[in-house]
Amino acid sequence: MSQFKSEQEAAESGVYMRKIQSFVKREGRLTGGQAKAIEQHWPTMGLEHKDGLLDIPQVFGRVAPLVLEIGFGMGKSLVEMAKNEAGKDFIGIEVHTPGVGACLSDAAEQGVTNLRVYDHDAVAILADCIADNSLARMQLFFPDPWHKKRHHKRRIVQPEFVQKLRSKLAVGGVFHMATDWENYAEHMLEVMSQAAGFKNQSTTNDYIPRPEQRPLTKFEQRGHRLGHGVWDLMFEKVS
Ligand SMILES: C[S@@+](CC[C@H](N)C(=O)[O-])C[C@H]1O[C@@H](n2cnc3c(N)ncnc32)[C@H](O)[C@@H]1O
Repeated sequence: MSQFKSEQEAAESGVYMRKIQSFVKREGRLTGGQAKAIEQHWPTMGLEHKDGLLDIPQVFGRVAPLVLEIGFGMGKSLVEMAKNEAGKDFIGIEVHTPGVGACLSDAAEQGVTNLRVYDHDAVAILADCIADNSLARMQLFFPDPWHKKRHHKRRIVQPEFVQKLRSKLAVGGVFHMATDWENYAEHMLEVMSQAAGFKNQSTTNDYIPRPEQRPLTKFEQRGHRLGHGVWDLMFEKVS
């Protein structure tokens, strides 16, 4: 709780606090290449939570549909998407610093210029840095599934969280999720089906086929070979 006596006091002073986090920060060491990528590319591609609300046209030097990805891991599919959809701007958020380094390195190598990243908790970034109604798409791919029942409360997809997301999406914007853990897919479907202001894009009212824009990862290809499932869900903000 640091310098505050209560969460309410912290909230009143404008500081965001959260009791349950969706991640445990792994103490992975940066490789030389990741450290070098951060040193070289953070000044152009890095965004800081402490800078507060983003001035998006200033950051990207243009106004284009904005896509935000939470928990991009090593950033491989995010970089590929940014490259494939050059007419859109992308913001990635990840707490695992080696992943941030890998993403910057890959983006620089591929000459991707429409991507910026935060090395921070996405919940705080949404609360403090992203303007309401500003996003065309939000993506959450293979979030930590928190297998054990007693850990389910750590899953990032929760009713309160998806309403926060909704406030950041523009009307007509979509929230795209994917998971390879069936129980989490069912949880996502349940939370989203009950969430006010969203409409399921699935014609069968459950899952959708993987949209072309989401690259098929090696991990996923391997999963397919082993007969594992992957579930994509896409919900549009209608109000
Ligand atoms: C299972 S990994 C999946 C990574 C990537 N999306 C993929 O498909 O390979 C989930 C990632 O989400 C990140 N993460 C979890 N909660 C987060 C949060 N609140 N803010 C930012 N990143 C988060 C974790 O650090 C982890 O790298």
